[in-house]
Amino acid sequence: MTAMEDALRLESVSKTYGDRVRVAALENVSLSLPYGSFTAVMGPSGSGKSTLLNTASGLERADTGRILVGGQELDASDETAATRFRRGRIGFVFQSFNLLPTLTVWQNVLLPARIAGTSVDKRHARRLLDRVGLGDRLEQRPAELSGGQQQRVAIARAIVTRPALLFADEPTGALDSARAAEVLMLLGESVREYGQTVVMVTHDPVAAAYADRVLFLADGRIVDEMRAPETAGVAARMAAFRTGKVAA
Ligand SMILES: Nc1ncnc2c1ncn2[C@@H]1O[C@H](COP(=O)(O)OP(=O)(O)OP(=O)(O)O)[C@@H](O)[C@H]1O
Ligand SMILES: [Mg+2]
Repeated sequence: MTAMEDALRLESVSKTYGDRVRVAALENVSLSLPYGSFTAVMGPSGSGKSTLLNTASGLERADTGRILVGGQELDASDETAATRFRRGRIGFVFQSFNLLPTLTVWQNVLLPARIAGTSVDKRHARRLLDRVGLGDRLEQRPAELSGGQQQRVAIARAIVTRPALLFADEPTGALDSARAAEVLMLLGESVREYGQTVVMVTHDPVAAAYADRVLFLADGRIVDEMRAPETAGVAARMAAFRTGKVAA
């Protein structure tokens, strides 16, 4: 018997892109996230935040290192197996939303459950869409929605099945502050009420303060972390990174 496993564990994960110009998007990243934790990932553009989420969720394959989800190794080299592994257990909110253009809002939200062959709690789905302010948009298609509305559909889609692990890449990037607060509260509730583990990329210190821990990335490495973050402290830390006062 082992001790309680982490919801997510990365062991020395590295990922390099490109042949001609090689970019080390992740370098030796190790981390452990306990169940029911809410982690924010921050860092400059190009520091590897999306790459971290994509490899940790098995959407992209790491060059080296191990990724364990609930103690089970995720092998992204076999795409079919990785997809099956993710299904029902990992949710993803993409930076670019990735909604299906031919499906309505309602169909988009129900799709992951349909694919996974699990029954959907339609009342829960409906409540979620009301919560994100889209209860009256169920029959519309993504092209008929604003960027922020599409983002909220993507969030509802990712959390409707209550995946144990939820990755969200700038889930509030296209939202005004009131909508962003609503989404962040929703993510916080997913963590507290359902014990979900959330990893969220954000550029916004206000959003990061909803998390219980912030990881700071620079040039593909975790260079710092902050527990029980507060907006002002996170903003100050980011400013220090920008002016080079903290060695990265
Ligand atoms: N598919 C790809 N092919 C080649 N290089 C890539 C690819 N995806 C990412 N990169 C490179 O890897 C590095 C990390 O990119 P990544 O998208 O993870 O950054 P990010 O921190 O998410 O940035 P942003 O805040 O702008 O979204 C960058 O230098 C980027 O150019
Ligand atoms: Mg990104």
